[in-house]
Amino acid sequence: MTHPLLRRLAHLLPPIQRLSQSRDAALRDRDAVLDRMQELIDQQAAEAAALQAARKAEAEREADARMERTLTMVRAEYTVLPRFGFHQPLDYNEVSLPPHFDPPVVRPDQKLPLPAPADRFGYPADDAAYLRMGEMDATIVRDAIARHLGAPRDLALLDFGCSSGRVLRHFEAEHAAHGWRLHGVDIQARPIEWLRLHFPQHYTVTTGTVQPHLPFEDNSLDVIYGFSVFTHIKYLWDMWLLELKRVLKPGGLLVQTIHTENAWEYYHRYRHEDWVRRAHAARMLDQPTMQVDWLHHGDIAVSQAFWKAEVARRNWSRYLEVLELLPPQHALSFQDVMVCRKPAR
Ligand SMILES: C[S@@+](CC[C@H](N)C(=O)[O-])C[C@H]1O[C@@H](n2cnc3c(N)ncnc32)[C@H](O)[C@@H]1O
Repeated sequence: MTHPLLRRLAHLLPPIQRLSQSRDAALRDRDAVLDRMQELIDQQAAEAAALQAARKAEAEREADARMERTLTMVRAEYTVLPRFGFHQPLDYNEVSLPPHFDPPVVRPDQKLPLPAPADRFGYPADDAAYLRMGEMDATIVRDAIARHLGAPRDLALLDFGCSSGRVLRHFEAEHAAHGWRLHGVDIQARPIEWLRLHFPQHYTVTTGTVQPHLPFEDNSLDVIYGFSVFTHIKYLWDMWLLELKRVLKPGGLLVQTIHTENAWEYYHRYRHEDWVRRAHAARMLDQPTMQVDWLHHGDIAVSQAFWKAEVARRNWSRYLEVLELLPPQHALSFQDVMVCRKPAR
């Protein structure tokens, strides 16, 4: 016979069993929740690590690209340097030497032959226009000489950046009448070779270099002029002024055309033309008037230098005495004319 207490306890067994089962179930649920939470934490950590790795890879790619851009720039500079660092040579190889030139134009009204249009380096192909424009520029020099040096006498003249003698040819009469000594220098060997072949011996013509150096003695020239040369000198313009000053005699005259606000506005007017777009800065195409003090843009044949007139005057007068800065002097020109003097002492 069963003890009555045991009988009562037996009643409790099923609920106790149920309780124990639900505790096990609760523990299993808790473990499942904990496992799931650990899974989520691991997943989050994996995603964060992947993101960090992607960012690091992106940063490395950006750094590589930056380095490549810098290297490209440096390589470009060093590749241009041999071409740009000295002069624009004749092509020194057996096939092309001596260089071929189209036959010059010989006219009964001209003592000197004209270069064929291909050898006029951008100046008019029409003979009359080529001669007229050269004469108008020569007149600018002649007038500056008359204003500042007085009556014509025996003078030594240098055409700085003479090309194939477009302006220099027009001083042949002064050479004959007053013994003017005529010199030309240009960094392009080809037009210099053309001059050597076609101009008389009394023209001393020399291939120059873009490094500021001229093949003349100190204090040896009365007048140096240049048309549209400082308009392209982007590097070392200040040292060029000092070099020109070195070879000028005390009291000697420098006449150079430059680009100022006038040229800026002129080019801006033609901003839709290919020849302007190819050679000029976006800023110049966009802005109708010159807002910056100066702008030096582009390289080699398409480098362009602009100064505000007032800035050019101030900058140039550090090296030479600025006598005049004239606006464009004739209908075919859009360049100002800087006239300077080397001080007497
Ligand atoms: C636009 S062209 C003008 C040519 C010539 N002055 C004329 O008016 O017919 C510019 C000339 O300057 C030359 N040039 C540029 N920089 C020079 C430099 N530092 N020394 C000598 N010539 C230079 C060029 O080779 C080119 O022949």
